[in-house]
Amino acid sequence: MFPTNASSEPVAATLSRRQILAGTVSLMTAPWWAQSRLFAQGGSASGQVATAVEKKLIVYTKTPHNAEPALSDLAGSWITPLEHFFVRSHAPVPEVDVAAHRVSVEGLVERPLSLSVSDLEALPRSETLATLTCAGNRRSEHSARRTVAGVQWKEGAIGNARWGGVRLAEVLKRAGIKPGAKHVWFESVDRVKGKDGRTFSFGGSIPIQKAMADHDGTPGALVTLRMNDALLAADHGFPVRMVVPGYVGARSVKWLGRIVVSDQPSPNHYLADAYRLVTESTPLAWAESGPIYKYRLNSAICQPAASSSVRAGRVTVRGYALPPGNGETVARVEVSADGGQTWQAAKVTGRNVPYCWVLWEASVPVAGATSELIVRATDSAGLAQPQAVPWNLKGYLFNAWHHVPVNVS
Ligand code: MTE
Repeated sequence: MFPTNASSEPVAATLSRRQILAGTVSLMTAPWWAQSRLFAQGGSASGQVATAVEKKLIVYTKTPHNAEPALSDLAGSWITPLEHFFVRSHAPVPEVDVAAHRVSVEGLVERPLSLSVSDLEALPRSETLATLTCAGNRRSEHSARRTVAGVQWKEGAIGNARWGGVRLAEVLKRAGIKPGAKHVWFESVDRVKGKDGRTFSFGGSIPIQKAMADHDGTPGALVTLRMNDALLAADHGFPVRMVVPGYVGARSVKWLGRIVVSDQPSPNHYLADAYRLVTESTPLAWAESGPIYKYRLNSAICQPAASSSVRAGRVTVRGYALPPGNGETVARVEVSADGGQTWQAAKVTGRNVPYCWVLWEASVPVAGATSELIVRATDSAGLAQPQAVPWNLKGYLFNAWHHVPVNVS
């Protein structure tokens, strides 16, 4: 089914399948029909099944599934393998009938659409590399100062992947954006249980400018069907999710069912009342705060593990650094073995591109007096990671220097 009227009845006469599939220029040079054939090789929409893999993660909650990799597993590969990719879900994985599943495009659009997975697969294909990180990554370090409720994420609620799908801008161009559009809402088909016992779907929104901000091979947002060249796994949003490069993971809505173009931000709880920086829970504090969109410059030591024993001499230190979500890159990563008095430059070991983490390595001299290793990063605009960050009630966006205690013998 393609275009629909407000009551979701087909109005195929308005716009033909061919008209929808034709449309604007794809970044790929092959014609759309060749791309869609290539795209379909991983499995066609009707017989599609989610990619299954045995996860190797530290599990915080089984249902909903919340789990992160051991840091030693995280620094091993620039593209994070599925088994080591964190999972953050507020509700159980919904059951989705792939053949019947539709993503509706509605609101301030000229031609409301109802797109099946095969419709999406037939649109010009796009790929992007982007790091996904939870706003709550490193929450446990906020909690070390004053306890924060929620999953006590360490430094592993982060992963880097190759995402495949259709640019959101491409979908919106086919729907035709009406004047007055300011935000694009995403709504899932999952069911979150609220505090009052009622259920609702996870959702959120991004500014329309971000939705349309395709540049340098990176889409403003990607309607995503594939992760690391395979169909999405059930935990990661199969059959279709959003991926918003540079934004905290909460904006990358999984199990996508609805896209709404609006003049208002989404009223969904996860945009309107959660994922905000507040220090106290008062109506005024919530009202004065805005939604978190972009993530911040960050870094972490993944090896040696915290509290491990290392020999005096040179120790190999490895980890990741994340550029801020504004499109800057990582310019410098430094490690200190003397409490931050002196710093040694680390070497980036793989790719360094916007919206993606870098992996780095340093050979650092340690002696009996060394009690901890510290890392900090600086971005291409000269902004350095802060030594300390203010506490906040929900434990979001912790990005202070990362300290790892070690025992030197
Ligand atoms: N989408 C839905 N439908 N439900 C969710 O709970 N969690 C969000 C986001 N999208 C969530 C969601 C959050 S907070 C994060 S960090 C990312 O998904 C995690 O994506 P992943 O589980 O694929 O790693």
